[in-house]
Amino acid sequence: MLLQLKNIFKWVNSGGQRIFLLKDINLSMAEGEFISIMGPSGSGKSTLLNVIGMLDTFDEGEYHFLNESVHALKEKHRSNLYKEYIGFVFQSYHLLDDLTVYENLEMPLLYKKLKGPVRKAMVGDMLDRFGIVGKKDLFPAQLSGGQQQLVGVARALIAKPKLILADEPTGNLNSQQGEEIMKLFKKLNEEDGVTIIQVTHSEKNAAYGSRIISLLDGRKIAD
Ligand SMILES: Nc1ncnc2c1ncn2[C@@H]1O[C@H](COP(=O)(O)OP(=O)(O)OP(=O)(O)O)[C@@H](O)[C@H]1O
Ligand SMILES: [Mg+2]
Repeated sequence: MLLQLKNIFKWVNSGGQRIFLLKDINLSMAEGEFISIMGPSGSGKSTLLNVIGMLDTFDEGEYHFLNESVHALKEKHRSNLYKEYIGFVFQSYHLLDDLTVYENLEMPLLYKKLKGPVRKAMVGDMLDRFGIVGKKDLFPAQLSGGQQQLVGVARALIAKPKLILADEPTGNLNSQQGEEIMKLFKKLNEEDGVTIIQVTHSEKNAAYGSRIISLLDGRKIAD
């Protein structure tokens, strides 16, 4: 088992009321699976992905990842864990504004303490693969939305994570670019055994995976 969520609840307090963002989520995922999370806007998809990616905390329940009990880990240990194993494609890119495309791609490799020449070769390879060599010295604000999304996907993949979490990874791409990203995910999943969880509104993209989880109002309603 790669990860297991047990009875996860997450809430915020507003005007003396408890508003649930996640309600009693149970989910087990084996290594090598490719899952799609679907559901209407506001149903908790990004919240769930952030919890799985350890970027967000929860209020009740247990989360086990590999041999670790995430709910019991100190912040520092938790961040080392996700930096080592997880690549995250954000719904709104989260590129670092004052770093160039090149520097944004290099960031996950710095976390992994790889040597300069190795980093250079890996960044070069990604720039090539995503057709953005000509953009390497530009800042995110100088790119189109689709180009920023491609950089976001490249950054998530560059350090060869065990688990890829992708929040609407093709939302701002044209249909051909979107299809290429889906094919790349499928290849990483089938050939390299990378585990993938993607959030998508598209039935077509969901069909690249092997399992669909549906959320409604913070609850899992189908698996
Ligand atoms: N910090 C917060 N405080 C209050 N409400 C929040 C907070 N974070 C998220 N929410 C609410 O939780 C619900 C789920 O949000 P989430 O971003 O997970 O939805 P989503 O399924 O990803 O939607 P979309 O498809 O639009 O991206 C929304 O109603 C949102 O307003
Ligand atoms: Mg979302």
